[in-house]
Amino acid sequence: MSETVQIIIEGKEYEFPVVEGSEQEKAIDISKLRAQTGYITLDYGFKNTGSTKSAITYLDGENGILRYRGYSIEELAEKASFVEVAFLLIYGELPNKKQLDYFQDSITQHTLVHENMKRFFEAFPQGAHPMGMLSSMISSLSTFYPESQNPDRSVVDIEKTIHRLIAKLPTLAAQAYKHNMGHPTVYPSNDLGYCGNFLKMMFSLPTEDYEVDPVVESAINKLLILHADHEQNCSTSTVRVVGSSQANLYSSVSAGIAALWGPLHGGANQAVIEMLESIREDGGDLQKWIDKAKDKNDSFRLMGFGHRVYKNFDPRARIIKKAADEVLEQLGVDDPVLDIAKKLEQVALNDSYFVERGLYPNVDFYSGIIYRALNIPTDMFTVMFALGRLPGWIAQWKEMVENREPIGRPRQVFTGSNERSFVGLSDRD
Ligand code: CMC
Repeated sequence: MSETVQIIIEGKEYEFPVVEGSEQEKAIDISKLRAQTGYITLDYGFKNTGSTKSAITYLDGENGILRYRGYSIEELAEKASFVEVAFLLIYGELPNKKQLDYFQDSITQHTLVHENMKRFFEAFPQGAHPMGMLSSMISSLSTFYPESQNPDRSVVDIEKTIHRLIAKLPTLAAQAYKHNMGHPTVYPSNDLGYCGNFLKMMFSLPTEDYEVDPVVESAINKLLILHADHEQNCSTSTVRVVGSSQANLYSSVSAGIAALWGPLHGGANQAVIEMLESIREDGGDLQKWIDKAKDKNDSFRLMGFGHRVYKNFDPRARIIKKAADEVLEQLGVDDPVLDIAKKLEQVALNDSYFVERGLYPNVDFYSGIIYRALNIPTDMFTVMFALGRLPGWIAQWKEMVENREPIGRPRQVFTGSNERSFVGLSDRD
């Protein structure tokens, strides 16, 4: 007999099924709760709510475990390419040689963006935040590919949209950067790999030769893999909810980019470096900033510390910390802001306030450090996160569509006024 739970409401007992995941995590299926009892559940921020069943990513925050399709993040970051991981997330299995060649070739064929999009960039003010540009650009791709807007789209159309998105996001990200630099656009090089091509579009100039640095390329590959999926986080849930209305994939991903932008989510990596710079400008007194973070009357938080689901060391942070140390050493980077980061990490890791609350440095703490060492400007950090997260968004959107999930539509507990009569303007206080 399958397991059930009893809920007693106003003395009456109701029975609800228990759903068990492949890692034995359990959920109470309350999909019939309102119909049977008239009650709903209240769960701010959906902290206890499973919005779907998903076979993509397994995350155990208490034990610091993260796996994509069963493969540990540690092994993937060590052995795989980002494009392989994208295939794995989206299609469920690691590609064989033929599948990988086809996938890579198809992505390479779609790296150019329509020339008209250059005019959109021209219209943005210089210094426009690249996440704002990226979100707009990705949404506008849907207007160039109207077949993507059809809710009854064919598998072929969906495949094309997926390949186009993976191909064009780095091109648009690099164009946003070049726009802000006031430099000419660098077109994609189809003889380079995914990360190498992106680096060239970002950093090459018409005035000098450019060679991709393998240390930098490998660090970017690792960072993108570590960010590729993180189950039902804020931006991914956004993509699924927007997509559940049958909005096209470009618009759904554009909404995901907007959600990622916030400093409590992907925007934290930018906030980390800004915080470190403020600490340096203020004289570098770390204890003062630690005390501020602990002071309940002060809204300041140590950016890059703590995580919504990891109350243990974030497994991605462990890998990135090692990568950050390697990159800094291999590139011979000497940067006072990075010294402050290292000291802050030590002070916080030994402070009982942070230890007791399980507030460890998260993935954004170290990724910000690496991006800075690679000369990626601060406002591009979250764009780098978006590049990594794209396959996860796509995989989650595809799963939601294939499972024919209903439109996302939470309920509420209404706390406003009861019905009252309209008062004419002259009779109002
Ligand atoms: N600095 C100081 N205190 C903190 C911090 C911090 N960074 N994070 C949490 N706390 C305290 C908080 O004040 C609370 O204390 P108390 O129990 O005394 O009231 C306790 O720790 C629990 O905090 P919470 O807000 O209930 O934790 P949460 O799980 O809801 O929030 C978080 C998680 C990531 C929003 C939060 O830790 C935070 O704001 N961190 C800084 C921003 C950041 O680095 N975000 C990136 C997250 S990783 C990227 C991603 O996956 O999106």
